[in-house]
Formats: sequence, structure tokens, C-alpha cells
Amino acid sequence: MSAVRPTIAWLGLGRMGSVMATRLLEAGFEVGVWNRSPGKDDALVAAGATRIGSLADAGGYDLAYSMVLDDPALARLHDPEDGVLSGGTTRLATWIDGSTVSPRAAALAAEAARAAGVGYVSAPVSGNPGVVAAGRAIFAVSGADADLDRAAPVLAALGRAVHRVGGGSEANVVKLATNGLLGIVMQSLAELVVLGEKAGVPRADLLAFINDSAVGSPFSAYKTPALVDLDLSPTFTVEGQRKDLRLALDLAADLEAPMPVLSTTEVAFSRTIASGLGAGQDLAAVVLVAARDAGIELEPPR
Ligand SMILES: NC(=O)c1ccc[n+]([C@@H]2O[C@H](COP(=O)([O-])OP(=O)(O)OC[C@H]3O[C@@H](n4cnc5c(N)ncnc54)[C@H](OP(=O)(O)O)[C@@H]3O)[C@@H](O)[C@H]2O)c1
Repeated sequence: MSAVRPTIAWLGLGRMGSVMATRLLEAGFEVGVWNRSPGKDDALVAAGATRIGSLADAGGYDLAYSMVLDDPALARLHDPEDGVLSGGTTRLATWIDGSTVSPRAAALAAEAARAAGVGYVSAPVSGNPGVVAAGRAIFAVSGADADLDRAAPVLAALGRAVHRVGGGSEANVVKLATNGLLGIVMQSLAELVVLGEKAGVPRADLLAFINDSAVGSPFSAYKTPALVDLDLSPTFTVEGQRKDLRLALDLAADLEAPMPVLSTTEVAFSRTIASGLGAGQDLAAVVLVAARDAGIELEPPR
């Protein structure tokens, strides 16, 4: 693998993967693209990427970078029959996975990679597609130092900061904790804007104050338009956020670490999905259930 410009097999072209692969292409990397369902690679191929016909063909690149939904999707990628590592990985030196998955799923993928002589890097990302497009994403990474060094120029082209957190699957733990906090903050903001509305304070006024205070955050600021205008087109879906809450709770259960607030937050997200009020929408849709429970209807501002 060349030190500076590895060739990259990009695996998974969902909301995040397509934006990340586009950034690498625009940064001058040679990029091959694969997605389970056909069609999502068309725009990237038109922009200069090469279509990868099968996962095994990823072995012909220096580096594989996956961005898929969940644990089963990651396991699919290293299927021994026809996965990334099945085709004789003579060229492939490093596999970076950026998906939000359990530490256990990451460890299984790392073990399969190791057995095939390929280094593995867990590199979950914080930042939605818009944040990635702006070059503001950050990465928690874990893996062997040599593999982290190989991943470094690619990650540098993708985002603004890389946090090395360990030699195994620690990055996956860091990501689950971070997304746990994200879910808790989202639910808290939703409950409190409903409280404000019921007490006669418009959401916009309440959030303007919160955002200007010490407890405001970049997250509360960029969720403010969704909470005020009720435009709930997803950057990250309610279902995706609940998946991450459940992964964090699974880890907590394995480790006998009670998580009362995280557990309640998972219930709030499940109610948003099960009620049909927010299914398929942005995670800010938890505000719809909070409002319904409080007996009020939220209207976008006139
Ligand atoms: N969106 C965000 O703001 C955000 C931010 C940080 C991290 N993440 C994490 O990044 C990952 C991707 O998120 P996303 O928003 O891009 O999700 P998405 O738009 O739903 O895309 C999911 C991708 O995973 C693929 N996939 C799903 N199941 C698969 C399987 N069994 N085998 C192979 N491929 C499979 C999908 O392929 P098909 O096209 O065939 O369905 C698609 O390419 C997730 O782990 C998510 O938690 C998301």
C-alpha cells in the first residue's frame, strides 16, 4: 500500500457512506464503490468512482472502508463465503469500519480480518451527513498502531479530528456512549420545549435562551430548527438512534452497569416508533410524543 494515497474500496452507500465516499473522491483518492442494493452507486460512478461488482473484489484495493447500518450488516461484509476477505486479500492491508456497531461485532470483524492478514480499525464517526460534507466530522479510532497510522491520511481527508482510544474495540464503546448522550439530550430537549409551550413560552424563545446558556451545545443549536419548524426530514432516523441506545444498553447489561436514564430514553424512542408518530423521521420526532403525552398539539410558527 502506498503510504500517502491508498486505493479505497468503499462499502455501503447510505446517507453517511455516500457523502464520505464523495469527500474522498473529491480529495483525489482512487475510490471503488459497492452497495448491497443497486443504484446508490450511480452518482459516485458518474463522479469518477469505479463500480465494485462483488465484496470479494475489495481485496484488490489497498484499503476497505465500510459504512453500513448495524451488526448484521457488518457481519455480512466478512461472510467467509463471499465477503470482503474471501477473495484472496493479496493487496488489501487495512479495513476501516465506521459503522455504529457493538464492540462484540467489531471484535468479530477484527478477528476475521486478522486471520486473513488484514489490519482492522474501528472508526465510528460523530457528525451527520451535513457535518461530514462540511469536513467537520470527528472519529474515535481503535486498533493496532500500525493500522491506525495507515488509516490516518484517509481519516484526515474525511474530517477534522481523530481520537485514538485504544488497541481493540474501544472506539465502538466511545461511540455508543456518545450516542447514548445524544439520545438523552434529544429527549430532554423535546420534553422541555413541550413544558415551555404548555406554560406559554414559544419553542423558539426557549431554545434561543438555552442555546445562549452554558447548557446549550452545538447539538441543541442544530436541532433547534427541527424542534421549532417541525421539519423532521431525517439526518439520523428515530430507528437508527434507538438501535444505538439498544446497543449501549446491551453492553451495559453484559457489564452489569445499570443505566436508568438511558433505559427511559430507549422507551421514549420506542414509543415514537410504535405510535407511528415519528417512524422514519428525524430523531427530533420524539417531540411529537412528548407533546401528545402533555395533551398539546405543536404547530410550526406562522
Ligand atoms: N446518519 C447519521 O447522522 C449518522 C451519524 C453517525 C453515524 N451513523 C452510523 O453510520 C451507519 C450508516 O448510517 P446511515 O445513516 O448512512 O444509514 P443508512 O442511510 O440507512 O444506510 C445504511 C447502509 O447500510 C447498508 N446495509 C444495511 N443492511 C445491510 C446488510 N445486511 N448488508 C450489507 N449492507 C447493508 C445499506 O445498504 P442498502 O442501500 O442496500 O439498504 C446502506 O448502504 C450506521 O451505523 C449509523 O448508526 C449515522
